[in-house]
Amino acid sequence: MGVADNIPIRRLDFEFADDMDLVFIKDDPALSYLFVGSWMMLPHLEPFLIRTVQAALDQVKNDRLREEAIRFCAQEGQHFRQHQKMNEVVKRIHPAGPRLAELEREVAVIFEDWSANKPLKFCLAYGEGFESMTCAAARAQMETGMFDDMKEPIRGLMYWHIMEEVEHRTVAHDVYRACGGNYLHRMKLAMFFQRHYLGLCKRFQAAMIEAAPEVMARYQQPEMEAKRKARMTAYTKAFMPKLLATYTPWYSPSSVPLPPSYEGARRTFSDLALSVR
Ligand SMILES: [Fe+2]
Ligand SMILES: [Fe+2]
Repeated sequence: MGVADNIPIRRLDFEFADDMDLVFIKDDPALSYLFVGSWMMLPHLEPFLIRTVQAALDQVKNDRLREEAIRFCAQEGQHFRQHQKMNEVVKRIHPAGPRLAELEREVAVIFEDWSANKPLKFCLAYGEGFESMTCAAARAQMETGMFDDMKEPIRGLMYWHIMEEVEHRTVAHDVYRACGGNYLHRMKLAMFFQRHYLGLCKRFQAAMIEAAPEVMARYQQPEMEAKRKARMTAYTKAFMPKLLATYTPWYSPSSVPLPPSYEGARRTFSDLALSVR
């Protein structure tokens, strides 16, 4: 298959109304807020990934990988623009809005500083860690049917985004290796990446939970608690082996098994797109 078929650039235009339900995962405000909160980072993290890959292009000699890298940047560019639209609504309608904006400014400074001052190899390894983790998470989310328990329009945004994360799963890894990245360096950075990125995610989530105690209280019935626990157990069981596999020296994103719903999701979002190139 050609590169354009593997990594198509779809232009989507999601609409987010002020009355959309931010508890978009059925009966799970904490998990919903973990995603919604963490996505505040994307308009800064994804441009950082784009800047990183673009800065590495001179060192990528393989034509196919260069084309994949250009398409990776274009997909990420679409992602953060759609998330940015949603983030503006979230900051307006959620009581944690001002705090989320503060945290977002903090994150913007970090990623801008890294692009300006950190070695390219550090930025590439951070990107590789992020992309390997999102691919593992995306596959586990599809495999466990998490999208069946989600509400639009956030469901569509998330499903489209994680499906494209799987489409471009090899790019950050291959560009990192093409630039001299090696296993030991990757592992050292993977540990740092996990602490750093997941630590930030938790801060966004905590801000949203803290500012909405009445929402949290609404979902405290024992049967909801049991459903959440079952969902999380199934997800963790699917996710952990995939994540751990990314830490092995022989990890290769091109050979990971893909969930049965993946191809259908690709077609669905190509059909929904305003344009595909
Ligand atoms: Fe993305
Ligand atoms: Fe990505």
